[in-house]
Amino acid sequence: MKVMECQTYEELSQKAARIAADTIIEKPDAVLGLATGGTPEGTYRELIRLHQTENLSFQNVTTVNLDEYAGLSSNDPNSYHFYMNDRFFQHIDSKPSRHYIPNGNADDLEAECRRYEQLVESLGGADIQLLGIGRNGHIGFNEPGTPFNSRTHVVTLNEQTRKANARYFPSIDSVPKKALTMGIQTILSSKRILLLISGKSKAEAARKLLEGAITEDFPASALHLHADVTVLIK
Ligand code: F6R
Repeated sequence: MKVMECQTYEELSQKAARIAADTIIEKPDAVLGLATGGTPEGTYRELIRLHQTENLSFQNVTTVNLDEYAGLSSNDPNSYHFYMNDRFFQHIDSKPSRHYIPNGNADDLEAECRRYEQLVESLGGADIQLLGIGRNGHIGFNEPGTPFNSRTHVVTLNEQTRKANARYFPSIDSVPKKALTMGIQTILSSKRILLLISGKSKAEAARKLLEGAITEDFPASALHLHADVTVLIK
């Protein structure tokens, strides 16, 4: 695990975008694994800037997102489909037919998870997977206790995670109770992983990741089992 300390959130975002951009320059048809939430917003802004000012092209890129809420349509402003279009996709030249996000509105969520897992597998896993981390160590929506060998699955969100995400919703009651997420094994099938940790509220999670034990009680600790992880910390 390679750790890069950054002085500012902007520096973290620029470094993350640079690493993702270099992956695309080296492999124009790269598979980018993407995350939502507050942390990667600066990285998306910086990738958009590289597209606009340095001709970085996403034309042949495929994207696979980590997760989606259950029960929200892709037009719902709180869905991760909406987030991705709003913060990133509509500003670049990637092809919508190559944007993959679990369908939280599928009739059969278990079948949707199997379909998504097979899709990620058929793409050979992400060439680079962007990750944020929850205060409880979650990655994707893999909450503490999730087996390290988990594949894409339906999760019941715990209260801490629902509270943390309530800032995007009118009230905590409207935060969905379930979500679909790549499993930890799915995440580990990525060729390279870029974990972004930003803010005082994540300091304890960062400490546990860097100094604590490898345990299913702290999902991000599974990243120690991967050979190519870069952690950017501010
Ligand atoms: C988002 C995701 C989550 C977030 C985590 C941190 O797709 O999978 O694991 O990365 O909850 O969220 P922020 O960045 O909002 O603190």
